[in-house]
Amino acid sequence: MYRLLIRPILFKFDPEKVHHFTFSLIRFLHKIPFVGSLINSYYEVKSLKLEREVFGLKFKNPVGLAAGFDKDAKLYQELSNFGFGFIEIGTLTPKPQEGNPKKRLFRLQEDSAIINRMGFNNGGVEEAIIRLKKNNGVLIGGNIGKNKITPNEEAVNDYVICFEALFDYVDYFVVNVSSPNTPNLRELQEKEPLKALLNTLQNLNLKKNKPKPILLKIAPDLTNEQLLDIIEIVNETKIAGVIASNTTISREGLESANKSEMGGLSGKPLTNRSTEVIRFLSEKSNKSFPIIGVGGIHCAKDALEKLDAGASLIQLYTGFIYEGPKLIKEINKALLKKSSV
Ligand SMILES: Cc1cc2nc3c(=O)[nH]c(=O)nc-3n(C[C@H](O)[C@H](O)[C@H](O)COP(=O)(O)O)c2cc1C
Repeated sequence: MYRLLIRPILFKFDPEKVHHFTFSLIRFLHKIPFVGSLINSYYEVKSLKLEREVFGLKFKNPVGLAAGFDKDAKLYQELSNFGFGFIEIGTLTPKPQEGNPKKRLFRLQEDSAIINRMGFNNGGVEEAIIRLKKNNGVLIGGNIGKNKITPNEEAVNDYVICFEALFDYVDYFVVNVSSPNTPNLRELQEKEPLKALLNTLQNLNLKKNKPKPILLKIAPDLTNEQLLDIIEIVNETKIAGVIASNTTISREGLESANKSEMGGLSGKPLTNRSTEVIRFLSEKSNKSFPIIGVGGIHCAKDALEKLDAGASLIQLYTGFIYEGPKLIKEINKALLKKSSV
């Protein structure tokens, strides 16, 4: 129904407006009695066989919503009814910021892809916390970044502010240094600044009563040499794991008219590269840390490939837009089928 009826209508309109419209629609539907539980009973695949324990957390299934969709933690409760095992909010920055000028989100339909240059538009960490206080049991990842106006030399402070503020309200943290849409952000992926950033956060973390898993989200455009550095840094700083990957700056093999827009590319053109990164990290690290696999998952096969390559959990964004919420159910059903053969 989504691909045949809903998507063709939604895809006639501006992508960012559709995003806000869909949020309002989902919220409105959930105000009608029983609709939330109806959605949940249709989409959620419930089985003990889908449960995963990763970095000390218990996930009801391994399919999550990737960062950027619910940046401000406005809809995580309702979105979890579509069967996600966990929801990652953010990227949040200490202060609210507008992000880049519109238009900044583009569909590449011929390529089943999206280019975005949103630029961390968000209402700031404090505003998100007000909403997270109402969380009724959804497993939440908190993806954190720096404000655009903060120079890289002071970036650590921004991550610390977000980390401390969110600590009581999220289950795991993601340090985002891999968005291509904040000028110079990806320079923080260089060995020395990255070590300093992760060590600072991990030291604060270890002082807490119950430390929380900290993950690093990386770009798919890193070279093998840089990926080996990432393995070294993860092992040295003893953070919990890696999310591979963010959007790419590559434009290889694209056919759509919008292909030259600036920003990060997500969706099908990213499928193989992000799986390759997962496999490389998993093999070269001897599986010494968990990986969340994300990038171009548009069908159950794509998800299984990422898990086979070494991911412990997976996340969706662009596939959710193109294939609709049924994709979550399809992946979980395929996983169940696989576990029973
Ligand atoms: C419109 C849009 C906004 C995004 N915003 C963020 C973000 O704020 N933080 C982040 O870590 N990743 C962000 N991402 C990246 C996704 O979380 C994901 O890593 C990437 O899109 C690859 O997965 P996909 O091919 O399933 O979309 C965004 C992606 C899109 C399409």
